Amino acid sequence: MIRTDGITKRFAGQPPVNALTDIDLTAQSGHATALVGPNGAGKTTLVKILSTLIIPTSGDAQVNGYSILRQSGQVKSSIGLVTVSERLFYFRLSALENLVFYGSLYNLSLSSAKERALELLALVGLRDWADTKAMHYSTGMLRRLALARALLHDPPVVILDEPTLGIDVVSSRSLRHMMRELAKKKTVLFTSHYMKDIEEIAEQVYLMKEGRLVENGSPAELIANAGKFFEVEIASPNVPHDLSKYVVALNGSATRLRLPEALLGELGRSATIIGSARATLEDVYVKVVGESTMDVRLHQVKRGGGRE
Ligand SMILES: Nc1ncnc2c1ncn2[C@@H]1O[C@H](COP(=O)(O)OP(=O)(O)OP(=O)(O)O)[C@@H](O)[C@H]1O
Ligand SMILES: [Mg+2]
Repeated sequence: MIRTDGITKRFAGQPPVNALTDIDLTAQSGHATALVGPNGAGKTTLVKILSTLIIPTSGDAQVNGYSILRQSGQVKSSIGLVTVSERLFYFRLSALENLVFYGSLYNLSLSSAKERALELLALVGLRDWADTKAMHYSTGMLRRLALARALLHDPPVVILDEPTLGIDVVSSRSLRHMMRELAKKKTVLFTSHYMKDIEEIAEQVYLMKEGRLVENGSPAELIANAGKFFEVEIASPNVPHDLSKYVVALNGSATRLRLPEALLGELGRSATIIGSARATLEDVYVKVVGESTMDVRLHQVKRGGGRE
């Protein structure tokens, strides 16, 4: 289980960046919990804090019952972390050799490291490529190998930052399946920009924007709260600014939008209703944390825009 208590992170600089403000969330054991939000929302910063890679400006969190501030050693041994980093593996070593090497860092004996590595390679579907050098692995294979690496010490908590980023349909499908299996027994916390990941894996979703938690619930609860959505067309390429994030298509001089029932009135009588539907998770995202492209740029400038 993970429980955060008022986590705040401010990066010094000109201007300083308030990456996280007062984050209170819980990720339960036996569940998958997702962090969702636009670029710069603070997801990776929170992942880094929970894995003790950086310390919060204020607040604390319990990971597997240990404080990230006072018991960072125990926290580290409680978690398996999968990040987007490409530089996790020694490219001249085989997948198996890489895992055995990392296993030895967890004080596993050579024979038990090898046994564990082979078991995990089978789990992530790479058993037949155990002896292939990491340099010949595809992006999707490297992500799966990263998951195997994170599971070497059988941690009760698994944290994944964008596990399906840049990988093909079949690989991401099998990754989702693995994550669902893991979440039956462990605490799984992950970030993703793909609504399919969220729909298929997460039991609990936290929507974040500009460093704050905006809303949370199960996918079904979030969809129910969002209400009914309408697909409408207006005979103009100009859309009121606050509705621009709801645009789904521009057809010549006409604009098609998909927007919540409560906003229909803002379009006036020129709007043609094409149809209505229950919200999807994507609709929820757009409504709760979506930003128009222009807003994203504005926030980057306003908040310093400093990337690593
Ligand atoms: N080391 C750092 N120094 C200064 N600012 C930082 C640092 N790391 C992150 N930030 C800023 O903190 C904010 C949150 O960034 P973060 O990477 O956590 O967002 P994210 O939700 O993971 O975004 P993405 O979806 O693009 O991965 C951003 O404004 C970012 O520029
Ligand atoms: Mg990130």
